[in-house]
Amino acid sequence: MRILVTGGAGFIGSNFIRHMLRTHPEHQIVNFDKLTYAGNLENLRDVEQHPNYRFLAGDIASRGDVERAFELGIDWVANFAAESHVDRSIEGPDVFLQTNVLGTQVLLDTARKRWLPSPIAPETILERGERRHLFLQISTDEVYGSLGPEGYFTETTLLSPNSPYSASKAAADLLVRSYHHTYGLPVLITRCSNNYGPYQFPEKLIPLMITNALEGKDLPVYGDGLNVRDWIHVEDHARALDLVLHKGQPGEVYNIGGNSERTNLEIVRFILRELGRPDSLIRFVRDRLGHDRRYAIDSSKIQRNLGWTPLRHLEDGLRATIAWYIENRPWWERIKSGEYRHYYQRMYGGK
Ligand code: NAD
Ligand code: DAU
Repeated sequence: MRILVTGGAGFIGSNFIRHMLRTHPEHQIVNFDKLTYAGNLENLRDVEQHPNYRFLAGDIASRGDVERAFELGIDWVANFAAESHVDRSIEGPDVFLQTNVLGTQVLLDTARKRWLPSPIAPETILERGERRHLFLQISTDEVYGSLGPEGYFTETTLLSPNSPYSASKAAADLLVRSYHHTYGLPVLITRCSNNYGPYQFPEKLIPLMITNALEGKDLPVYGDGLNVRDWIHVEDHARALDLVLHKGQPGEVYNIGGNSERTNLEIVRFILRELGRPDSLIRFVRDRLGHDRRYAIDSSKIQRNLGWTPLRHLEDGLRATIAWYIENRPWWERIKSGEYRHYYQRMYGGK
């Protein structure tokens, strides 16, 4: 299969490409990425010469760019491309709608025209059980909104997104669903919890805290630090996506989670302890607007139906991630010394 991986130069996309090249020599990967501030071809330096890999620069919201990609003969799409940071979506939602909603629609529409010259009943695809074409939408647990101290998100939980980012992802999910229902496009949707691991852009909690601690800077914790996230190692996410592509039922949604709920303070204190830095580096700052209190995923469907289970224990995975950021200092120093400095000043300067 020739797989179009959009957003492959970002954190999860690059880890997914590495996983697929390693485990599926039968597939060709086309990495299609606009290279925004979050896209970095350095994330794929080790595989850029791989015979089954190629990079194509392009914007998922541009019909011309997406057409050019499909001219390569695309069988499956894995859509990772997105604006992904909640704080940036609060600062400026426009580009989130442009990429996450309109971009997804351009991809869906191009896939539909290329793959289904005439509409086809979704039941027919399911009956045939064929996987000639697939459109995998990489979504997020944030589309479900926020939980109280009890309960879990299942695939049937009502969508109640709370930030412009999660609203744009929820809108994309609904478009994907509609292309299945209306045109019979063979789609799959996954909703994963918070990822961590190598190559994560240092605006997100874990890499920000690790790199600030290494630089001896303050660690800015929002609000009371008691918000809860369910952490999953990016390689466990990549394995789940691989399984969904190969075995998932078109038209279905699959939740993916790490079974590792922690408060932000627990995560930050663990990082400080591992690095031998004092808790006094923690600085409580003004809370994120509309800050979701708790996410927790029930991933029993993918475990039951596809036999997936997360393998990385959180504390071990965190230790390995800390080691990666220590060993790859030039990678994040280049990012933090560039345009990122202005972002950091804007985001944290007045808090
Ligand atoms: P990221 O910000 O690290 O990477 C996004 C990538 O998309 C970058 O390479 C960027 O250049 C590219 N991109 C952005 N706009 C584009 C456009 N218009 N056209 C083409 N490429 C474009 O994000 P990530 O953390 O790797 O997340 C990847 C996907 O997974 C996103 O769809 C996100 O919503 C979803 N997701 C992320 C998490 C998480 O914890 N990070 C969890 C669940 C789901
Ligand atoms: O749940 C999946 C989602 O996880 C993905 O869809 C998003 O793309 C991804 O960014 C992530 O969203 P979060 O908002 O949960 O992640 P973030 O790393 O930004 O924040 C994690 C928690 O840490 C959250 O409660 C806010 C808090 N935080 C974050 C930053 C950046 C802080 O306390 N201080 C910070 O400086």
